[in-house]
Amino acid sequence: MSQDKDKAQPQDPERREFLTTATGVVAGAGIVATSWPFIASMNPSSEVLSKATTEVSLTGLQPGAVKTVEWQGKPVFILHRTDEQATDMDKTEGGKDPQKDTSRVKDPNWLVVVGLCTHLGCVPQRKDQGWFCPCHGSVYDNSGRILKGPAPRNLDLPPYEFIGENKILIGKAKA
Ligand code: FES
Repeated sequence: MSQDKDKAQPQDPERREFLTTATGVVAGAGIVATSWPFIASMNPSSEVLSKATTEVSLTGLQPGAVKTVEWQGKPVFILHRTDEQATDMDKTEGGKDPQKDTSRVKDPNWLVVVGLCTHLGCVPQRKDQGWFCPCHGSVYDNSGRILKGPAPRNLDLPPYEFIGENKILIGKAKA
């Protein structure tokens, strides 16, 4: 009977500790190996990253003209404002969502706004004095500020920066 009791006791405590540690290491490696494909699938694909920013050349865009580009699936209007348009916008603060023009532009001659009406998301049409939304009649000025109609706020401003004299980068560059 005492022999059976002896068999139940660990024969070699160091060996037992080694086996416990080794089992833990193997299990941990298994979890990492199993999780990696899942973790990797959560990273944005290179296609998504490439669309996170849009580089736009401003060369050839005459004063008074608008260029529409796509950024993250949305239209972005780039208006090359004339000096007169820039001066006019600097004198007013818009309508129901008052905002200084200087807080909406990085350069008075260039306005960059998301081209989606802030009411229900229609694409406004260009007019001499700004934009008109054909869906329900909202009117925006040449700073993209709402003047009248049901739109609750000014056209949104995308993040962007000038990356050269005639080039902007819309969106946040990778850190
Ligand atoms: Fe533009 Fe309604 S979506 S006014």
